[in-house]
Amino acid sequence: MGFSFNFRLEKKKPRKYISERKIKLRVRELAKQINKDYSGKCPVFIGVLNGSFIFLADLIRELSIECEIDFLKLSSYGDSMISSGKVKLLKDLNAEIKGRDVVIVEDIVDTGLSLKFIKNLITGAKPKSLRFATLLFKKDISKLKFKIDYVGFEIPNEFVVGYGLDFAQRYRNLKGIYVF
Ligand code: PRP
Repeated sequence: MGFSFNFRLEKKKPRKYISERKIKLRVRELAKQINKDYSGKCPVFIGVLNGSFIFLADLIRELSIECEIDFLKLSSYGDSMISSGKVKLLKDLNAEIKGRDVVIVEDIVDTGLSLKFIKNLITGAKPKSLRFATLLFKKDISKLKFKIDYVGFEIPNEFVVGYGLDFAQRYRNLKGIYVF
């Protein structure tokens, strides 16, 4: 069945960039790798709100290992298309992660500032291990000096929405990923 979304307020219709089907297949592949890497373990997946909620929900439902989840909430973009350069912690963890295997789950790594902030924050809580997963990675513009363990898709420097990602809080509910 076709799916058409009403981009009521936009002058230009965003273009479909990654289909729902491609996302589903890639999420399954990432989950397969995570199942292997954490076989017999019970990692804590930490979703970074708001953007990661759909990716995290789909990813953990593809897992066959036991796991726990918790959330952090950060903000650096507000309603803007450009990072403010300052990351704010809006909601801290509830889970006790000392001595645990932790996987941070992001929807997108853009400048890398958010992930750098998270790495410092989580390392301070002394997890047993720490890895990173992101659905989208702007490898060329991120300033990260550490590796991201699970990457869905490497993308160029385009403004993308859908599958959790927003423009001024809208479009998170799109099933695919679109470029403005
Ligand atoms: C987005 C996204 C990442 C971050 C990545 O969050 O969800 O957390 O930006 O950008 P960076 O690599 O340049 O730091 P945003 O602040 O837009 O909040 P949201 O998740 O609520 O959309």
